[in-house]
Amino acid sequence: MSNSDRVVLALGGAGTVGSGIVKALLDKGFKVAVISRDSSRLERLRSFVSSTTKDNLTTIVGNVGSEEGAEQAKQALLKAVGKVTDIVSSLGFSWWQGGPPHTQTLKDLHWVIETLLFSTFVSWKAFFPLVRDDSSCTYTFITGGAGEKLLMPGTGFLTVGAASTLAFCQVLREEYPEVPCKLNQVKINTGVGTPERMAPGYLNHLDLGEAVSTLVEKRNTSHTVFTVNCPADLKTVLLERNL
Ligand SMILES: NC(=O)c1ccc[n+]([C@@H]2O[C@H](COP(=O)([O-])OP(=O)(O)OC[C@H]3O[C@@H](n4cnc5c(N)ncnc54)[C@H](OP(=O)(O)O)[C@@H]3O)[C@@H](O)[C@H]2O)c1
Repeated sequence: MSNSDRVVLALGGAGTVGSGIVKALLDKGFKVAVISRDSSRLERLRSFVSSTTKDNLTTIVGNVGSEEGAEQAKQALLKAVGKVTDIVSSLGFSWWQGGPPHTQTLKDLHWVIETLLFSTFVSWKAFFPLVRDDSSCTYTFITGGAGEKLLMPGTGFLTVGAASTLAFCQVLREEYPEVPCKLNQVKINTGVGTPERMAPGYLNHLDLGEAVSTLVEKRNTSHTVFTVNCPADLKTVLLERNL
């Protein structure tokens, strides 16, 4: 199956991480579908991708973070693109530093878990059946290393939320050891930014997109965690291991 026959659903594809992945996938000839709650974000994504690839991008307004929304979005998606062969999930938020736990409310914690874990679970439950039984299909989770330590004072709930997503991905690997679909996780232990918003050691979302799109393209591994600590790891950890 060539890239042009493959349709990638990018969950979170309108975000910082997701948009780099969407652009790289389109540049490699994939068809890509993105669902977002925000039509203006989808418009920005359309103007961001290479103009020659726009026709291969399908955008749908919807909410993959609720069970009903995900079902509705799935029907709209299948109507628009017919089938899905690959899924990349980069749901969540870029940064959170709301303060130490004693300054926070249950509502704050609920929002963090909803954004990082519930949306990842609900969309996985809705969309995984589209790819799970086919060894030429892939499902790739983008997660954050923030789940393993406190990044700086006041970021505790980010750690709690990111840790819950790391645990969820581990559970999937262990609960479904034999699933034919290539199930992988890219764990990023540094910040990701657009070229305009970079800091030292950060990954450029375009470089990350290039590496993740190669992982999707090659389909060589499954049940693997690719840990990226710095920009150089994109080449050594993701690209070289998948060529
Ligand atoms: N940015 C970084 O520095 C960084 C570093 C390491 C790892 N990561 C990983 O990458 C993930 C994404 O980060 P990002 O910077 O791309 O964040 P972002 O720009 O805020 O994008 C997040 C995406 O998640 C979606 N989303 C959030 N809550 C949702 C909900 N309740 N229901 C449905 N969709 C929801 C948003 O959808 P809408 O379009 O509908 O708003 C958005 O497209 C993080 O969670 C983390 O695991 C990021």
